[in-house]
Amino acid sequence: MTDHIVIERAGETGAINVIRFNRPEKKNAITRAMYSTMARALIEGDRDDTVRVHVMLGTPGAFSSGNDMQDFMAVAMGGSMGTEVLDFLASLATAKKPIVSGVDGLAIGVGTTIHMHCDLTFATPDSRFHTPFVDLALVPEAGSSLLAPAVMGHQKAFALLAAGIPVSGEEAERSGLIYKVVSAEELEPAVFAAAENLAQKPPQALAISRKLVKPDPDAVIARMREEAELFADRLKSAEALAAFQAFMMRKK
Ligand code: COA
Repeated sequence: MTDHIVIERAGETGAINVIRFNRPEKKNAITRAMYSTMARALIEGDRDDTVRVHVMLGTPGAFSSGNDMQDFMAVAMGGSMGTEVLDFLASLATAKKPIVSGVDGLAIGVGTTIHMHCDLTFATPDSRFHTPFVDLALVPEAGSSLLAPAVMGHQKAFALLAAGIPVSGEEAERSGLIYKVVSAEELEPAVFAAAENLAQKPPQALAISRKLVKPDPDAVIARMREEAELFADRLKSAEALAAFQAFMMRKK
């Protein structure tokens, strides 16, 4: 458990399982403990019959700056990767209930790729979706190499995932990466209204419809595993170590 993730029930009947990043001083960078807490929240929310919808939120100015760079550095220096990241990604890709997310500001790395597993993502105009995987000598993760081309087409997916070109909220909406741009004031009301609306629907019909609309979860998990092996190798490369050291030293 960690205080850096806050789990709450919201909505008229407590049917909304809210998972909120709460590490604003580090722009909501995600540690292994945070992945673990989020995975448990998704699994427990799926098991709880009173829960109908999951909601994922950040804090003003930052959904998340992605994986904690200290944790990346530790692996690059010979430490273990652990299973927390993959466990979380698997729980996200196989979540049985709809996921609504809201982004204001930074959505970096997994802070972007999380939304490829969400069903409705709202974002503010100031949002910035950015996956600098290659600049960090890494490769795309979270099934994004399969999911992004499917929603955006090859060139926009390549620009995002391989060229590392940031995407604004409006561009993200235009390319199909997210559902809708709303103002900062409207962000949480829009997220909770959408979640409440889904919570009121017949849950079995919603679950079946969602399953029909979503890509095959087995294919997504298989791609995730393939990416994860490549990612783990890259984390141990000299190129990646140099990139992490440059981040650590950037203010000195
Ligand atoms: N991991 C760990 N700490 C992070 C972090 C991350 N991914 N992102 C930001 N932080 C920390 C910073 O080190 C800083 O901590 P400090 O105050 O103790 O020095 C704090 O959060 C604020 O970040 P800062 O860099 O000062 O803010 P900024 O507004 O100038 O830049 C970012 C914000 C997110 C653009 C920049 O920090 C960044 O590029 N972070 C790395 C993002 C990344 O590459 N993630 C991995 C993707 S695969």
